[in-house]
Amino acid sequence: MMLKHMFLLYSGKVRDVFGIGEFNGSDALLIVSTDRISCFDSVLPTAIPGKGKIVNKMSNFWFEYFKDTVPNHIITSDLREIENIPDGMRENSVIVKKAQRLNVECVVRGYLCGSAWQDYKKTGEVCGIPLPLGLKESDKLDRPVFTPATKEETGCHDRNISLDEMKNIAPDGAAEKLRDLSILIYEKAARYAETRGIIIADTKLEFGTDNGDIILIDELLTPDSSRFWDANKYMPGRPQEPLDKQFVRDYVKSKGGAENTELPGDVVKITQDKYVEIYNRIARS
Ligand SMILES: Nc1ncnc2c1ncn2[C@@H]1O[C@H](COP(=O)(O)OP(=O)(O)OP(=O)(O)O)[C@@H](O)[C@H]1O
Ligand SMILES: [Mg+2]
Repeated sequence: MMLKHMFLLYSGKVRDVFGIGEFNGSDALLIVSTDRISCFDSVLPTAIPGKGKIVNKMSNFWFEYFKDTVPNHIITSDLREIENIPDGMRENSVIVKKAQRLNVECVVRGYLCGSAWQDYKKTGEVCGIPLPLGLKESDKLDRPVFTPATKEETGCHDRNISLDEMKNIAPDGAAEKLRDLSILIYEKAARYAETRGIIIADTKLEFGTDNGDIILIDELLTPDSSRFWDANKYMPGRPQEPLDKQFVRDYVKSKGGAENTELPGDVVKITQDKYVEIYNRIARS
């Protein structure tokens, strides 16, 4: 099988998106998870070899896991038969249906951390949703909350919005549907991860439409879109270390947090092992 053409449409912090024209009857994209790593919101100059492949496999594991719950954009994740694709791209890429993106980040939070914790400390609410008094950082919420945000152009921070504002962006009736689907996916994934000793603190989902039908797009439940914590080390009242980027963050912090910090070989090696570990803990049968 051959790709008609392949041109770079967009390069994100860690992924590259190529237009490839029609594939299996659909207008298609090739999404490449590169080995780039971001830390404190900037891309570091050192890559983590093999990371892209692991993250891609993890996303594909979850798309497969949820395929009967919600339709998704995957056309194929098996690129072995495609002749004109660079070798290195076969394992870290997927071919997907190009969807009409719904420009909303569907964020579900099961634990109080990050910007939600900051918000709660100031207002007692998270994105306008009131929470009980006296919660500590990293506490588990009684029920997960849905806190959508706009997808802003590169360089701008995504802006949190209410469900009512979301109704202006998403087509008729879609806002509630996206909320319910997002919470359903989060809860099911979190229950599964718990059996593997992992807490999924929060996650970000993206949806699009394909011939009018809502489908799940982008990546699913990867360390780039979600926070994963080790359940054995979980201790509310302080921030939790992310399972995968712990060493990178500690190292970058120890060097003053500069975004152009090169990573030494041992930090790269430990980080590679961490990504493999999280993948195995989640996806290995
Ligand atoms: N099936 C799809 N159809 C159309 N667009 C898609 C599809 N799947 C993913 N995308 C879009 O492709 C892009 C993936 O790139 P990436 O996630 O690296 O960039 P980003 O989210 O814009 O920026 P960053 O992740 O660097 O903050 C996103 O803009 C995402 O919304
Ligand atoms: Mg993204």
